[in-house]
Order: sequence, then structure tokens, then C-alpha cells
Amino acid sequence: MISLSLQHEPTVIMIFGASGDLTQRKVVPALYNLFLDHWLPERFALIGFARTSFTETSFRKHLREGVDQFSRRSKTNDEDWQAFAPHIHYMSADYSDPAAYTTLSDSLSKMDGEGHTKANHIFYLATPPGNVEVIVQRLGRANLSRDRKRDRIVIEKPFGRDLSSARTLNHTLTSIFDESQIYRIDHYLGKETVQNILSLRFANALFEPIWNRHYIDHVQITVAEDVGVEHRGGYYERAGALRDMIQNHLMQILCLIAMEPPVSFNADEIRNKKVDVLHAIRPIPQEQVNGFAVRGQYGDGWIQGQRASAYREESGVAPDSSTETFAALKLFVDNWRWQDVPFYLRTGKRLPAKVSEVSVQFRPVPHQSFPLSAVRDWQPNRLVVHIQPEEGVLLRIQAKQPGLTMRLSPVDMHFTYQEAFQVTSPDAYEALLLDVMIGDATLFMRADQVEAAWSVVTFILEGWEAVKPPDFPNYSSGTWGPEAAEALIARDERKWLLSTSLEKHKGEET
Ligand code: BG6
Repeated sequence: MISLSLQHEPTVIMIFGASGDLTQRKVVPALYNLFLDHWLPERFALIGFARTSFTETSFRKHLREGVDQFSRRSKTNDEDWQAFAPHIHYMSADYSDPAAYTTLSDSLSKMDGEGHTKANHIFYLATPPGNVEVIVQRLGRANLSRDRKRDRIVIEKPFGRDLSSARTLNHTLTSIFDESQIYRIDHYLGKETVQNILSLRFANALFEPIWNRHYIDHVQITVAEDVGVEHRGGYYERAGALRDMIQNHLMQILCLIAMEPPVSFNADEIRNKKVDVLHAIRPIPQEQVNGFAVRGQYGDGWIQGQRASAYREESGVAPDSSTETFAALKLFVDNWRWQDVPFYLRTGKRLPAKVSEVSVQFRPVPHQSFPLSAVRDWQPNRLVVHIQPEEGVLLRIQAKQPGLTMRLSPVDMHFTYQEAFQVTSPDAYEALLLDVMIGDATLFMRADQVEAAWSVVTFILEGWEAVKPPDFPNYSSGTWGPEAAEALIARDERKWLLSTSLEKHKGEET
């Protein structure tokens, strides 16, 4: 999170897994945009490291194709690309080959010698999780982890697949790097609107006094996707919605909504406050999992006029797969602020639309003084943080309908980033990469945070693994998930809320 001016320290980013999707779709387009916006230091180098045998020229071409296709800006122009391309280098090697790390170390020393200063060295692991251990060990042996100030390592999720594997991974990392050198990415934390939750809550005096169990009835966090598993069936089969989305992205959003005000914007201060939330989440006993968690898997159906196939027909997926592509949970945060306020979380693939949002539903007014005829359409206040696609905040209030009688009706006050600032938000990866370069870990996950988040979902994972789902697939593509998810919230006499744009989309009132 940039709060200071960037110190333009020389930086070398080494991307392991440089021939893969993540590098081409996310990491390099983000670096290129940072370059265009003059955020990169003059002495900057990108070294791609992978097994694929690219030449430097073919690697640069491959990256340019990715930037053209995936950058938030339109296609590259020759002049800008020609200025960026000389910063890019490539090494083809096996991740376990010690000699490759010696070569890498020699190249880095040479670059440092030429620039007369030691650069920041960022080791970015964009590889499948199975390669992490060997890369970390080799970096350690080649003395590339020694400088606590300048050597940094970036790790992508998944951080393990349960509490014990996350602990093992953290142990491997911290046996070579100090925790302060480790940047665990959760790209949701780099999203503009997710960061804005902190400003909304702590830069405005308005919300904090009512941000508690006395005024808030419940909170809903929805992260819906219309896509299926795409080409990631192999990975997703071992993950599922709980591991893929809830343990990380939704849990991080929950932390930002529920955390206590930080004393400062110091990385550890913010992260401590977030960990407190995770520790306060009431554990769900394994035998009660069904009362608090619902899983689903998509069958075939229609999305926006297109036929969509069932999860079990996707490539890399077992025809009798038990992997959940939808999960909904009800959680409680046991502390003074939130006691007995339910937090409903849901996420799924092949839902009707791509939308992520947080709805904070306030309680009704304590005394209704208007006549019954005036309050027929009355609704309690609601604050909605739109994370995507429309980035913004909506506050639903009651207003008098124009006319000669007193009739109340809900109206929405809307702030959108697009209207207010008229600029395109940077991609989450731009924000996060820049933070790694300046050494600000606020938006990254600390080991204890990751482990605490795994603890929250462990009982559910174990409960689900113990009993094969009898009814999969249990929702059609293009619907809002299984009926059991409706029942989960309906039991509390509540319903899932949709954002106003989706209300229109669905043609229904919420
Ligand atoms: C990733 C998950 O972390 O987030 C994917 O692995 C998911 O399954 C993606 O599609 C969603 O991210 P975004 O930024 O598109 O909401």
C-alpha cells in the first residue's frame, strides 16, 4: 500500500515459472503498467526462470503477447515496448539444478557490480506449489536469502491445502528466509475496493460508532463468478471453493470488515488486528457442519444465453467428482463488537454473474413512528461495498416519496470510482508488486494469518471429506447455488442480498 513516495532503489525481479499463465496474464502486464506509469526504478531487470527453452527474443515476444491480451491498457505500442523489453532476460533451467542458482547468483553480483550498488532481489514464485520447497532450498544454498533488507520472496497461493501442510510450508520458508522477507500474495488485498474498506471505516467518523452488534444485524460477503473452472480442472479438483476462495479471499475481506481500528498504518499493526478477528471466529464443531456450511457443485445449464457444461464434464475433472464449486458459510466472531452478529459468506463458480460485494445490513430503527401506510416499502439501512465489477459504495436510506401523502421508500446513495475519479484503477498485481519493491508488507499475509484462516475452515473441510456429497451436482449453471444455501440463511429469517445492478439483472426486489 503506497503511502510514501517510492524510493527508486535498483530492483531485480526473478520470476520462477516464467513461462506459465500467471506470469503472462498478471505479473508482466502489471510490471509493464508500472513501467509506463514511471513507478519502476531506472535500474530494473526482470529475469524469467523456467524449464521451457525460450530464447531471450522468443521470451520477450511471448510476454508482449500476454501484455497485449491481458493488460488493462490497450495493446502495447512499439516505442513503449522497445523501451521496456531490454529489461527482460531469460534463464532456462531445472528448478532443482544447483548450477542454475550459481549462475543466477553470479549474474546478480555482476549486475550489482555494474550499477555500483546492491539491488533489491525479488524472487517471485509463480510455479505450482510442488516446486516451492526445492526453489527455496536452492536459493538458500546459493546464499540468495541472506540479505534481510534486500532479498525478498513472493509466494502465490495455495499456501498448503490444510492447516498442517500450511505449517510445513511456512516452516520451509522461514527456515531459509526471515518472515519479514516473505510476501504471501492474496490478490484480493491489492484490489482498490478491498483497500478502500480501510479508508471507509477508519477515515470517516460516521461509520465507526455504529459499526457493531448494536446497529448491525448481519453481514454478507458474496464473491460470485460466472466462469467455470476453465482450464484449471486439475488444480481445482484438489482445491474446491472452500480452499480456493473462502480460506483466503473471503476471509481477508471478513477481517477488514470486522477488525478493530488500527493504531497506525504499520504493516504488523494492521495484520495483528486482522489475526485477532480470525482467532475470534467461533469454531464449527464437525458434527454441526451442516448447520453452518453448505457445499454445491454445478451441473449444466445456461449463462447469459450460452450453454454451460457440468463441472464433472470439465477437462481434468473426475466424472464422479465430490469437489465443491460453491460454498456458503455462516460464521460468528466472538468478541464484544460482533457477538451474535452472523457473517454469511458465499462463493461459487457458474453463478449468474461475476460480482463481489459486501453487504452490511443494519438493524431496523428502534421505534417506528410512521403510520403503517407510510412504511409499506420500508427497509432497514444497508451499506454495500461493491468490489467488482462496479467498484464503489452504496448506502441505502429511506426517503419520503414525492407526493401529498407520507410514504417512505428506499433510495440509494451511490459512489462509484469511475464517476468520482474518472481514472481506471490499477490492477491488484500492480499495487502488490509495487509494495514488494518498496518493502511494505501491509497487504500480504503473515504466516500466523494463513494458519489462523486454515484453522477456521479445517472442521468444515474434515466434515465434508468424511461424507461424500449425496446430491452432486446440486445446482444448475446460471443459478445462485444449491437450495440448501437459501435454506441456510432462510432459517435465520434472512435472505441473500443482491447488489442493485443485479436486482435489475434479475428483475427482482431485495
Ligand atoms: C483465484 C482463484 O484466486 O481468484 C480462482 O484461484 C478465481 O479460482 C480467482 O477465479 C478470482 O479472482 P478475481 O480477481 O477474478 O475475482
